[in-house]
Amino acid sequence: MKLSDAKKDHYRKLAKQKGYRSRSAYKLTQLNNSYHIFNRGDKVIDFGCAPGGWLQIAGKLVGIRGTVIGIDIKQVEPIENTIILQDDIENQLIVERILKVLGGKADVVLSDLSPNVSGIWDIDHIRQISLSKSALNLSRDLLKKGGSAVFKVFEGNYLNDFKNELKIYFQKIFLKKPDASRQSSSEFYFVCLNFKN
Ligand SMILES: C[S@@+](CC[C@H](N)C(=O)[O-])C[C@H]1O[C@@H](n2cnc3c(N)ncnc32)[C@H](O)[C@@H]1O
Repeated sequence: MKLSDAKKDHYRKLAKQKGYRSRSAYKLTQLNNSYHIFNRGDKVIDFGCAPGGWLQIAGKLVGIRGTVIGIDIKQVEPIENTIILQDDIENQLIVERILKVLGGKADVVLSDLSPNVSGIWDIDHIRQISLSKSALNLSRDLLKKGGSAVFKVFEGNYLNDFKNELKIYFQKIFLKKPDASRQSSSEFYFVCLNFKN
């Protein structure tokens, strides 16, 4: 077995043992350990939340005074103290819908959005970056000044364009591949701190 597959297997087993819905739960935990994204009581929006690993981690980190809302086109099994909206992030009414449910702007926006991958690198990259750009546009209406965000990206030609766009809106930006991501995958995460608004 390749080392990357062994690692994937390790986090999958660990997630199963601990009752997390996805291996991705460890990616968010590791990003938070490095960048301290969450505070108790925070309001969090999670774009592309199914099956819910990130929702579980975010819920733990913000505690019962916090609010976590997840959005996905797919149906997500309920999670305690978490609001789930089955919707497309491209829906014109999504900002209004989220603000109403959340009762104001968010401290943290998460985006682990991924298209159905075709296996054709360029096409998957373009579609994924387009989803991340939509999440960034939504963040401009939904994130509090000083807030934080995490955006998944697939590596490729348009990654730098997206980074330059992020720089307009956030004071600090870090590009990271957490240990729980397969090192051979094209997936990275931008951790963005201090939203300028
Ligand atoms: C990698 S999964 C997210 C995993 C999740 N972070 C977890 O921890 O369980 C990516 C998700 O993005 C969702 N997605 C893709 N396009 C979307 C869109 N336009 N609107 C809402 N969700 C979308 C997919 O349905 C998929 O569930």
